[in-house]
Formats: sequence, C-alpha cells, structure tokens
Amino acid sequence: MTANREQFGSRLGFILAAAGSAVGIGNLVGFPVAAAKNGGGAFLLIYALFVALICLPVMMAELSIGRNSQKDPLGAYNKLSEGSGAWSIAGWLALITPFMIAVFYMVITVWIFGYLFEVVRGNLDKLADPATFGTFINTNSVFLYFIAVAAVVNLILVSGVKDGIERAAKILMPALFIMLIGLVVFVLTLDNAFAGVKFYLIPDFSKIDAGVINGALSQAFFSLSLGMGILITYGSYMNRKEDVPGSAKFVALADTAVAFSAGLMILPAIFSFNPDVNTGELSESSVGLIFTFLPKIFLALQTTIGYFGASVFACLFFLLVFFAAITSLVSITEVPTSSLVGERNYSRAKSLTILGVSMGVLSVLCILSFGRVGFLTEFVSYAGQSKSLFDVIYDVFYDTILPLNGLLVCLFVTYRWKKANFHAELETGNPDYKGSLVERYVDFSLSTFIPVILAAIFINTVLTKYFGFSLIG
Ligand code: TRP
Repeated sequence: MTANREQFGSRLGFILAAAGSAVGIGNLVGFPVAAAKNGGGAFLLIYALFVALICLPVMMAELSIGRNSQKDPLGAYNKLSEGSGAWSIAGWLALITPFMIAVFYMVITVWIFGYLFEVVRGNLDKLADPATFGTFINTNSVFLYFIAVAAVVNLILVSGVKDGIERAAKILMPALFIMLIGLVVFVLTLDNAFAGVKFYLIPDFSKIDAGVINGALSQAFFSLSLGMGILITYGSYMNRKEDVPGSAKFVALADTAVAFSAGLMILPAIFSFNPDVNTGELSESSVGLIFTFLPKIFLALQTTIGYFGASVFACLFFLLVFFAAITSLVSITEVPTSSLVGERNYSRAKSLTILGVSMGVLSVLCILSFGRVGFLTEFVSYAGQSKSLFDVIYDVFYDTILPLNGLLVCLFVTYRWKKANFHAELETGNPDYKGSLVERYVDFSLSTFIPVILAAIFINTVLTKYFGFSLIG
C-alpha cells in the first residue's frame, strides 16, 4: 500500500514545492502593506517571532502526521486515530477546507491572469482606471481565463507529485525569486524609494495593539499553508530519510523572506508615486491593492521609463503574482486529489476530472456572485452585512476555519496520536533532534499555549465576523 506511494524526488524539490504553496498573493501584496500600516519593523519583528515560535511547531506536526501515515488528511486522521469516528471529523474538515479555498483562490488567480493578459496586450492605461476592475470581473472573458488557469493547474497535477508538482515548483519558484529580486532592485532606483523603505522598516511600537498582534499571527499562520491539509499531504510524499524539522525551517524561512522582500518592492513603488501617501488609508485587502491601486502606480512609471517600460514592469509584476498563485493553487487542489486517489482508489486523471467539474461549477457560481446573479450576490447576511457567495466562502474557509484546523492538529498530536509517536517521527531522518532544545520547545508549546492561542483566535473571529462583536481588538 505504502510501497508505491509517490514521493518527492529530492529535499530541494520538497522545499520548493512547499514554499511554492506558502508563497501566495498575500505574501506579495497583503503582507507588505499590513506591515507598513501596523508599525513597520515592529510588525516584522512580531511576525517573525510568531513564525518561529507558533507556526513552526504546527508545521512540523502537520508534516509528521502526513509522513508517518503516508496518507491524505482524511486517511491520516483515520489511520493514526485507529478509526475513531470523532477524529474523522477533523479529517473531513482538512479535506473540505482546501476544496473550498481552492474555489475562491481560483477566482482571484483568474483575475490575475486576466490582468496579465490585458497588460501584455498594451492595456495598462485601461487597468489603471479604478473603475475597470468592477467591469472586468463581470465580462465574459473571465470564463475564458478560468478555462486557461484550470487547464494549467490540471496539467501540472495530472503528471503526479514528482513530474508535476515538483517539476513545476522547480521552474516557477526560481523564476519567481529572480523576478522579485529584479523588481526590488529596479524600484529602489526610483525617486523617493527610500522613504518607502524607511516607512517599512523603522519600528513604531505605538501602533502595536491586540488587533495588530492578532492580525500578524493570523497572517503568519495562513501564509505558511497551515490548517489547510496541504502540509499533511505533502508530508505524506516525503521520504523517511528526510529531515522534517530542518525542511520545515527552510520552508518557513523562504516564505518569510519572500514576504519581506515583497515589501521592498511594493512600498518604494507606492512612495515614489506619492511621497506623502497616507499609509493609514491604504486598503489591506490584497484584492483591492492588486487590481485597483497598484495598476495606477505602474502606469505612473511611464514618466520615468515610458509607457512600454511601465507595461513591462506591470507585466513582470502580474507574472510574479500569477506564478505565486499557481503554485498555491496546485498545492491546495492536491489535497482533495490525494484523498480521491487514496480513499477511493481512483486514478489521478479521474480524480482531477471529478474535482475539475465540481470546483468548476462552484467557481462559476462565485464568478457570477459579483452582481450578475442577484441571489448569489446577496447570498446571506450576517453581522449586519450582506455577503455574496464569494465573500461567504472567503469568510468561512479562509478566515475562520484555518485556526480551528490548526487547533485540531495540536490536540490530535497531543491527545490521540501521542507526543512520543510524534517525536519519534521527527527524529526519523534527523537523529540530532532527539533531546534537543527544539524538541523540548515543540513538545511544550504544542500541548499548552499554541492550542490556547489558536482557540482564542478562532472564537474571536467567529464573534467578530458573524456576530459583530470583538474580544481582541
Ligand atoms: N500565502 C498564501 C497567500 O498569501 C496563503 C496560502 C498558503 C494559500 N497556502 C495556500 C492560498 C494555498 C491558497 C492555497 O495567498
């Protein structure tokens, strides 16, 4: 059964694939702006501490659940809990969550692809008009872009773990790093660039309050692909000789480094456009920034490098975001794929067809929920706000359930799978881990304050989002 499970071909392949999953739209735009608005260097410091002290242990837990069980999340919870019915709920959650996140992430990736296409066709000036986005998302071309993006994801996934996911990551991730560095170097030469860098890096601890701390932790948690079943699935493709704690550190470092570097691209660009920008007024939503705010800034570059130069810059930017989004989309679609393959014994091609159709239908419904179909646009209303189908999927699966899934991982490792088994798995491939300070820290934190913090975030989000009542900031 486990003998023929596919594996990543190398440690680097795993790290690039997992980092590809973690690096997404949020890293490139949402993170830098959140940091700049919320205390610059002070935010960065808190974020880094959360990554190391809270997210890394959870990441190690997910990877070792996967590698030990050699199964998809549903199979993993069932196997390691010896078929306990209650824990299969956690397994189902770790399967439905990525399915739904894939749907909304697909929609955003489709828009990015559409913007990329428009820039290449020379339409940057049109995109820079803030009214464009609202019309663009309701054009029929979106369906064509959808087919193109779905085909790319399918093409990567159908070739399997090593020849599909790993190979794509080995091409897309280095390309992403190079483009990012290139764009950073370029924006740093612009006038006023350093005003942006200063704003990004100089710490302002007075901005740090409970809300900012909560935001930084949620951002770190989401950014690393935690609570999505992805790391359980990718862990199950890891060789037993591989060093799990070491690889996890690399993935966290790569994700954080990309998010940090993205700040050196975005903030100088914003400040060179307007040195007196009031960062307090910038939207923290990645969607708002990418589709309405940044195109204006890219177009403004034409005074320095001409319209063609500005279009090249915008094109590289959208390509960068597109690559980041594709690798995340691939990783998240792999979770339900691996479940259909593992639990139903379907071929990858058959599983992907089933998922393509079901996710396709849901994605199309989301695409129609921006005004085209009334009932999908005003799907439900909570906390006094009317929400579209797209908003609901985002709120429930991206914003609410992830900390709950993380909490379940901690509880599962501590109370059901048992920490001795967990540590034994982490020691496999890394003998030095045994008895180390890291081991003691992971052991303590995962069974004490990490689950408490995740539970607090979950409860706070539920109260804020659905009842309009906030405990933490
Ligand atoms: N870091 C991602 C982002 O910024 C969040 C994310 C992590 C993600 N893993 C993912 C999104 C998988 C979609 C699929 O967008």
